[in-house]
Amino acid sequence: MIIRSWLFVPGDSERKMEKARSNPADALIVDLEDSVSNDNQTIARDMSCAYLKDRADRSTQQLWVRINPLDTDLSLPDLAAVMSGKPDGICLPKVYSAKDVNTLCNYLSALEAREGIEQGTTKILCVATETAASLLTFHTYLEGVSKRLTAMTWGGEDLSAALGASDNRHPTSGDYDDPYLLARSFTLAASRAIDAQPVGVVYPNFRDSEGFEKEALRDRKSGFIGKIAIHPAQCEIANRAFTPSDEDVAHAKRVIEVFDANPGVGTIGMDGMMLDMPHLKQAHNTVALATEIAKRGS
Ligand code: COA
Ligand code: MG
Repeated sequence: MIIRSWLFVPGDSERKMEKARSNPADALIVDLEDSVSNDNQTIARDMSCAYLKDRADRSTQQLWVRINPLDTDLSLPDLAAVMSGKPDGICLPKVYSAKDVNTLCNYLSALEAREGIEQGTTKILCVATETAASLLTFHTYLEGVSKRLTAMTWGGEDLSAALGASDNRHPTSGDYDDPYLLARSFTLAASRAIDAQPVGVVYPNFRDSEGFEKEALRDRKSGFIGKIAIHPAQCEIANRAFTPSDEDVAHAKRVIEVFDANPGVGTIGMDGMMLDMPHLKQAHNTVALATEIAKRGS
């Protein structure tokens, strides 16, 4: 399933978890990490697990859980507590390299065995760029990473703390500064290289819907599929931004038709523009995405 919107919901907030049920987010990420205080850790684990168990039907909204980083002593108790709720996936923050993802994969295999869950069912979304080291280890994803890793996103907030920066924005353009654009590009390239879904970054200014939409559309143009949301209002915008429009689909179908009508041809003109194999591949991607979303009904 292609996930266009992933909504973070603090795992210790009954109100927000209830509110999220009717939200159009394709997936929720129930959070046990940064949005939960240390005092609330145990109660958040219990509440999250109860919520997962109460929501066994995931046909319109998947339920994922963000655990604490593997180098803390909170991560294993987090996992052990929530796996009986059969989360669709685990979000792993603050990774150093693919080695962390593979370690999590082993933990999941053990816990799936304990819970009688089919091996490999639980997927992984990693937040790939929240440590300084992570910017230098992207090659490790190509050297053998668990198939559970189906999505990768990046982070600009923890990364600025890790890099010792006081701001992650360029002083004049206001866009992300160089290290963060590097993080964005590496995440996109690594995800695509391993056939995982590249997911657009959190947009922290949750009252700025216009800015969120602009960034989501830019993410989509760059090759990302879907975006992380932190506020309910962001999900409908993300769903729209990552659903191909009728015009997009009509154009893609014309591209496919032109190549179908000219078998064996590698490049051809349409509307005064050159088309070749990358355009055909893109057109097939657009039609496949639109078909999958249409099947789901929203
Ligand atoms: N999931 C579900 N419901 C949420 C929500 C979320 N992430 N964020 C807000 N809501 C609910 C609020 O409870 C409120 O509903 P209510 O009036 O019935 O209580 C409604 O949506 C409107 O919220 P609003 O008043 O606009 O925002 P807020 O000031 O209450 O909360 C945040 C702002 C940022 C604290 C909140 O959006 C949030 O907790 N986001 C997630 C943070 C997170 O998980 N961070 C970690 C990942 S980076
Ligand atoms: Mg964080």
